[in-house]
Amino acid sequence: MTDQAEKPPVGVYSGPSRVLSGVQPSGALHLGNYLGALVKFTRLQHEIDTFIFVADLHAITVWQDPAALAQQTREIAAAYIASGLDPDKATIFPQSAVREHAELSWIFNCVARLGWLDRMTQFKEKSGKHKERSSVGLYTYPVLQAADILVYKATHVPVGEDQKQHLELTRDIAGKFNHDFNAPGFFPIPDPLIQGPGARVMSLRDGSAKMSKSDPSDYSRINLTDTADDIAAKVKKARTDPEPLPETLEELAARAEADNLVGIFAALAGKAKAEVLADYAGKGFGTFKPALAELAVETLAPVGERMRGLLGDPAVLDAILAKGAEKAREAAAPTLAEVKKLVGFWGA
Ligand code: TRP
Repeated sequence: MTDQAEKPPVGVYSGPSRVLSGVQPSGALHLGNYLGALVKFTRLQHEIDTFIFVADLHAITVWQDPAALAQQTREIAAAYIASGLDPDKATIFPQSAVREHAELSWIFNCVARLGWLDRMTQFKEKSGKHKERSSVGLYTYPVLQAADILVYKATHVPVGEDQKQHLELTRDIAGKFNHDFNAPGFFPIPDPLIQGPGARVMSLRDGSAKMSKSDPSDYSRINLTDTADDIAAKVKKARTDPEPLPETLEELAARAEADNLVGIFAALAGKAKAEVLADYAGKGFGTFKPALAELAVETLAPVGERMRGLLGDPAVLDAILAKGAEKAREAAAPTLAEVKKLVGFWGA
């Protein structure tokens, strides 16, 4: 055991700000992903250097059909671009195409402590009763996530509430690395960006459950690839109560399904929920749902169409991903070279 008291502090990072986030290619994307992630990424690219990747290394922590994985990766990339991410602004790439993620992840496996990983609730949920049969990768998943973030020295990470604990772990790893290798301020201590409109979109069938790709009812979610007719039908069938919309946010909060639909309306319209209530208080769902359906179709149907267009020309999409991977490697390689030096590897 080294004497931690003699070591330098974690230090303050003084490099440029950078955003990084990723989505796993393990299933179709829905409105929750769109509002909670894709729209945020698109907004951020105008303000700050932005890296957005497809987390295929994370996806294989559970079984993925090798015949389908590359296409699933293209689908996420298509969703990014269809939602407004601009490959000339943001760096868009597949995680597995940048080997520095995996390399840094190994070094971080030796920085993170077993006790830290033992606390991760997502592993407990995902492994369930079958911990012994889970992949080791599923256990060290958050360490790879820390490497994703820190290999680019990202300072801001837009994620859902469920990733907060993984961000805490990233912060702990960054701090311990800086401390142990006598490199104050080498890695930033990144901040999660969790708030914002549409942070939590709930199921259309149950206002207490998150909208999810694993819900057996397709009517519980709006998929990004749904047609205009599907979208309108799902909004109209969404579960509600018989009351008209209330005047205040407090009254709305007590009605989970109504709250969710107003939240979706607000996020799609780029308004606050209070503004939506100002327009619809006293009106019933017979009025509100058609308005919401129209807005949802207007916003989402073109996204689905653009996705289909991009997927219809995989050569163009693949060229975008290859160029993104090259840009990402250029950013990641210097960090890894410095890390190897700090760790003391031969030849570094
Ligand atoms: N674990 C994230 C999720 O399931 C995906 C992810 C992997 C990620 N690496 C990341 C998100 C790095 C942000 C930063 O949503």
